Amino acid sequence: MVDVELVDVELRVNGAAHRVELDPRVSLLDGLREHLGLTGTKKGCNQGACGACTVLADGERIASCLALAVQYSGREITTIEGVDHPLQRAFVAADGFQCGYCTPGQVCSALGMLAEHRAGAPSAVTADLSGQDIELTDAEIKERMSGNLCRCGAYDGITTAIKEVAA
Ligand code: FES
Ligand code: FES
Repeated sequence: MVDVELVDVELRVNGAAHRVELDPRVSLLDGLREHLGLTGTKKGCNQGACGACTVLADGERIASCLALAVQYSGREITTIEGVDHPLQRAFVAADGFQCGYCTPGQVCSALGMLAEHRAGAPSAVTADLSGQDIELTDAEIKERMSGNLCRCGAYDGITTAIKEVAA
């Protein structure tokens, strides 16, 4: 058994700063859930394939299971516990979830995606790459949200909710 030196990490989450001593191999996802008790962020695959663990880091969406907590020391992390946005009400109104397990990741991912769209970032289905006024069609939303899986198949409701808020 190898002794691992713990490192001092500052997890800045939802506006509050927490100093924790962590094994440098601990993922941001486990840091949030197991060390800060913020269990809204879900662990699905734990290997970057499902999006359930999506959080925002300085406003950009990331898969927290693929990030080391130490890498994000001092960065501003937003988890679902820190989100208060019309998108959440739109998810309810549009039946954008069933079991709800993927929902925190869907909401955080959608907020990051909307910011990317506002900044003019194209997706793989964008025909005009000039960066001007990309229409957020269903195809655009589905492509941009394709990293977030929903095993309940609530995709139509998710797309409707995002489209409504984007409008
Ligand atoms: S738990 Fe991180 S992508 Fe699935
Ligand atoms: S609502 Fe159940 S996995 Fe998406």
